[in-house]
Amino acid sequence: MSDLRFDGRVVVVTGAGAGLGRTYALLFASRGAKVVVNDLGGGRDGDGKSSKAADNVVNEIKTRGGTAVADYNSVVEGEKIIKTAIDNFGRVDVLINNAGILRDKSFMKITDHDWDLIQAVHLKGSFKTTQAAFPVFKKQNYGRIIMTASTSGLYGNFGQANYSAAKMGLVGLANTVAIEGERYNIHCNIIVPTAASRLTQDIMPPDLFEALKPDLIAPVVAYLCHESCLENGAIIESGGGWAGKCQILRANGAILRKNLTEDVSIENVQKLWEQIIDTKNGKCLGSGREVVIALVEVLEKLRNGDIKSIQNEEDGTDEFSFNNRDLIIYALGIGASVSKKEELRYLYENDADFSPLPLFFIQPALQAVMSSSQITTAIPGRNISLEQILHGEQYLEILNDLPTEGKLISCPKLVEVLDKGSGALLVTEVDTCDKNGKSLTRNQIVAFAKGAGNFGGSRTGSKIVPCGIKPSRKPDLSLSQKTSIDQAALYRLSGDTNPLHIDPNMAAIVGYDSPILHGLCTLGFSVRLVLAGFANYDSRLFRAVKARFTKPVIPGQTLKVNMWQEGNRIHFETVIAETNTPVITGAYVDLKSVVELKMPEKESSQLQSDAIFEFIIDRVKNDPAKAKAINAVFLYNITKDGKQVKQWTMDLKNAQVYEGLPKEGKPNTTLTVSDEDFMELAVGKLNPQAAFMKGKLKIAGNIMLAQKLTPLLKAEAKL
Ligand SMILES: *[C@@H]1O[C@H](CO)[C@@H](O)[C@H](O)[C@H]1NC(C)=O
Ligand SMILES: *[C@@H]1O[C@H](CO)[C@@H](O)[C@H](O)[C@H]1NC(C)=O
Ligand SMILES: *[C@@H]1O[C@H](CO)[C@@H](O)[C@H](O)[C@H]1NC(C)=O
Ligand SMILES: *[C@@H]1O[C@H](CO)[C@@H](O)[C@H](O)[C@H]1NC(C)=O
Repeated sequence: MSDLRFDGRVVVVTGAGAGLGRTYALLFASRGAKVVVNDLGGGRDGDGKSSKAADNVVNEIKTRGGTAVADYNSVVEGEKIIKTAIDNFGRVDVLINNAGILRDKSFMKITDHDWDLIQAVHLKGSFKTTQAAFPVFKKQNYGRIIMTASTSGLYGNFGQANYSAAKMGLVGLANTVAIEGERYNIHCNIIVPTAASRLTQDIMPPDLFEALKPDLIAPVVAYLCHESCLENGAIIESGGGWAGKCQILRANGAILRKNLTEDVSIENVQKLWEQIIDTKNGKCLGSGREVVIALVEVLEKLRNGDIKSIQNEEDGTDEFSFNNRDLIIYALGIGASVSKKEELRYLYENDADFSPLPLFFIQPALQAVMSSSQITTAIPGRNISLEQILHGEQYLEILNDLPTEGKLISCPKLVEVLDKGSGALLVTEVDTCDKNGKSLTRNQIVAFAKGAGNFGGSRTGSKIVPCGIKPSRKPDLSLSQKTSIDQAALYRLSGDTNPLHIDPNMAAIVGYDSPILHGLCTLGFSVRLVLAGFANYDSRLFRAVKARFTKPVIPGQTLKVNMWQEGNRIHFETVIAETNTPVITGAYVDLKSVVELKMPEKESSQLQSDAIFEFIIDRVKNDPAKAKAINAVFLYNITKDGKQVKQWTMDLKNAQVYEGLPKEGKPNTTLTVSDEDFMELAVGKLNPQAAFMKGKLKIAGNIMLAQKLTPLLKAEAKL
């Protein structure tokens, strides 16, 4: 790469007696330019006059073999500075408007004199020099202009109102000079330097002062002024050995009315405010022309009534499209498996009974609620963020046959806001229709907004669909299924991509040891098992569900659903089998009719101990060495109501755990225990020695070996 040269070019640098201006002058001169070193020689607040500063820089250039001449005029008389260039060198090619003064005072203390002086030096000075140079540039069809703006102008800075105003004024000046100069090959760009200079030397700490030396910015300015640089009208921020273009970002914004005849209301502005200020998909417009084009597009949309998204925002409806693939991904997400032939109907679109799992239809309602601003603006004068929201209760009612694909329209309506002190309870009803307007479902979402209470609202209301009260007898049926370690990873594909459910860092931030399962996944799981237990898997028999979410589930834990039948209402409660922790309570499913489950399956699936053995299988698989160290074979004889119902072999010699008798040889130890007591032992509520003494745990064979099992069993209690 050959050096970029400025031979034959005449460069005027204002304020070149020190700091940035001096480094510009030295750099241009070193690359062959003839330089006019302008400096009034004033102090940094612009008072006083001397010729010393400019002379020193000229001498420095000359000693290095360069060409330069000093100029002591004020930029307010810019034409005199340009005249110095013409008189001495016969032309001018580059004008660097760099001169500046600082007079920091808070806005209220700025005097007219301060104001006028700042505007005069920064804004008017740049105007005067540029206006004087412009005809020369125009005539020769070449010119490069630099305006010096400031981060104080672009971003504001306390105590610099007058300075900020002048500096931002320069941006406007440059924008238009760039447009007017374009056709004469006159480019005008803006440098926004962050440099240590005479203006900032006692404002900055010394090491920062060194790190921000002006020499690091001068090459950026020099390049902008080179004939090979095509940039025009750009704002270039630079400092510390970095440079970058700044642009004004315009949000995609919002259309504030529905058609050309409607007026804009203040209320619509408020309603659409988040959209108005959302710069996420913002754009940088290149010119005022683009602004007009964008507005013409808005008018065009208004004329054609093509403002669906705005209308949706206004009337609060939300669209949701789905097909059988979405239903299948959802079914997998809530644990449906081809290992149960009856569940193929949820997983295979060509199955004769292919049908949606009903709780899939909570998704469109939830999406509608999340995308409307009804929750975030539920309490006047408050701002509720979605991070504050917990899903407290859910009700879903099916009103018509559910489709397996199509477009759904959901209309959420906040019906009640209760003040619970520690938070607010937000009750939203969502009606979901198909595209023909046929009502399909009614959802009621009860959300708890943490920390949003004490706003003087009512504590009790009338809108919440009440939870069920489970009968006090033992469950009529309990079904368990272990969730997969990837359950949340799979479930989130159905739309709720909150990182809390997959990202360990996010889980930690929110206060969990690991990512948690979606509450609606747990609910979907539970209702699927209720359908298995009382509807022979026929989801068309489902009518409604109500549930309260109490505790989170960790993917990999076993969900046990305890069910009680009362007519067509199946009360249920879901617990984590490993810890006996209730996670869904007050819940019921209403069925159109009940189909009794065939007895054998009911019997075998009813055991609580199954979940524990599932867990032990995992443990042994994950750490076979530990199991093998015990080097013995145990037979578990599980009883219920005094009768043997299941046998499990723990062949730790081969690190295998399975249902039934040992596949080879005899067990070293046989343990007989009831299903309930086994659960109690596993969660640590029953001490093995006590159980043995009381006859709850019978041990045959090598009794001593049984003690070695304790750690393997006990660990579950921690889950
Ligand atoms: C424009 O919208 C307003 C308000 O929704 C409505 O009353 C009016 O009929 C609409 N006008 C036209 C021409 O569509
Ligand atoms: C409301 O909260 C959101 C999210 O925390 C935030 O982005 C927004 O700026 C807030 N709006 C107001 C008016 O406070
Ligand atoms: C279990 O029994 C087998 C014989 O059936 C024996 O070889 C093994 O040593 C026994 N294990 C222990 C730990 O006593
Ligand atoms: C299992 O327990 C039942 C009931 O106590 C008993 O009749 C049966 O003999 C036991 N089986 C074994 C292998 O110990």
